[in-house]
Amino acid sequence: MLILGIDTSCDDTSAGVVDSGHTVRSNVIASQYAAHARFGGIVPMIAAREHTQRISYIIQSALDDAQIGFGDLDAVAVAHHQGLLLSLVVGVSAAKSVALACDIPLIGMHHLEGHIYSNLMGRQHELPFPFLCLTVAGGHTLLLKVTAHSRYELLGFTRDDAAGEVFDKLARTLGLGFPGGPAVEKLAAEGNPQAYEFPRPLINQPNFEFSFSGLKTAVIQAVERDPQANAADVCASFQQAVIDLLVTKTIRVAKAHGLTRIALAGGVALNGPLRVALQRECEALNYRMFVPPRDLCMDNGAMMAGAGYFLYRLRGGDPLTIEARANAPLGQLGIRYRPESKYN
Ligand code: KG4
Ligand code: ZN
Repeated sequence: MLILGIDTSCDDTSAGVVDSGHTVRSNVIASQYAAHARFGGIVPMIAAREHTQRISYIIQSALDDAQIGFGDLDAVAVAHHQGLLLSLVVGVSAAKSVALACDIPLIGMHHLEGHIYSNLMGRQHELPFPFLCLTVAGGHTLLLKVTAHSRYELLGFTRDDAAGEVFDKLARTLGLGFPGGPAVEKLAAEGNPQAYEFPRPLINQPNFEFSFSGLKTAVIQAVERDPQANAADVCASFQQAVIDLLVTKTIRVAKAHGLTRIALAGGVALNGPLRVALQRECEALNYRMFVPPRDLCMDNGAMMAGAGYFLYRLRGGDPLTIEARANAPLGQLGIRYRPESKYN
């Protein structure tokens, strides 16, 4: 079953084709870094405008790369929940046009389900349920127990900033550009992770919550107070603090809930030292760790197509009246992972 997946939830215009949930036939991503660079962050209206300009070309490129035409598609899946509203609207409108013109099912997806399911792509077998998924990106840091297709239990979350957001903030302060994660990781490789003793908020608390704002403040202050500070040492020490927080809480949750399979998802899953640290802990405990292929970690259309296959088998397609929502509950159980007031 060939599914076209579209994701325009933030600043990447992306489309991909996946065969039956596992085999990636194409994955085309157009980043907008240049358009937002001079603003030091993503400007929602510019993101929407850029998506509008590129979406048709990106969809056509995804079909070309997969060596298929519109007539070969069996369904179209699109992120319509979670992200920048105006950006989502562009992808949803494009997906509806494809569904209508090709007379194929439309599958409306939660952006985070794409990230979670990116672990199932490119594999011969399915990742067996239940498993723990550390979803860690620019807007989220969540620990989800995945009990079955599209069924989640929220086991851990951040009280304040997301981990990726703090990487981006540090990079901006150091003038390293956007997105911050790759630049901070690169510089950190040249630094000493013990040079600064940055705080690891809540690390010794027996709860499953993350907090990154205290760490963010400490690291920004370290840079602002001492303009001569060694940026590589700052990045290495900061990255080590984030890794300690993520790994400690993830392992604590896994032990408490008897989960022996751990998956990573989201843009921060690209971080090499994080992968190594979590893998080391998993090996020591005889747990299995899963990481998506690198090109499926950041926002992309293929992950939507892959997740769309499993969700379509579960609940069929959606009407052409589906709408875009910046925040929406997740999965079949509609779990809420943000304060109520933020659902809109
Ligand atoms: O999943 P994603 O593309 O978008 C969201 O859904 O938020 O994740 C983007 C985030 C950014 O904050 C970026 O700085 C971070 O992932 N990121 C990284 C790395 N590559 C991307 N963080 C740490 N290390 C990396 N290598
Ligand atoms: Zn994302």
